[in-house]
Amino acid sequence: MKKVDMKTLLKAQQGELDAVLMYHALADKVKDKHDAETFRRLAAEEGHHAAVFKKLTQQTLKPKKTLATLVPVLYKLLGKKRLYPIIAKFEYGAVNTYAPVAESYPEVQSVKDDEQRHGDTVAGLLKT
Ligand SMILES: [Fe+2]
Repeated sequence: MKKVDMKTLLKAQQGELDAVLMYHALADKVKDKHDAETFRRLAAEEGHHAAVFKKLTQQTLKPKKTLATLVPVLYKLLGKKRLYPIIAKFEYGAVNTYAPVAESYPEVQSVKDDEQRHGDTVAGLLKT
């Protein structure tokens, strides 16, 4: 079986760590209480994902604040109706990125499935 390279795993780990901060920052910013609770739950799950990748890379990475800074600004500028679909699109993008990773590392399959659900969850916030 062809293994995906370390660079891909490290990039995934970094993305998950950054997503934890991003969802927490967004939870702090959003007006809707249900949205805030949802984002805190997603942050916790991204933290779990980061741990899955950390186990594979055996490396400790530092979360970057870029997205956590940018996304609350976008919330203010765009509003949830335009921002949430962008976030959902990123989550669905992760599903595609993780598909080949999950083939090499079965433990990533549940991470991939979570990202699909995250996309549905964030998009679903606009329907309530
Ligand atoms: Fe994730």
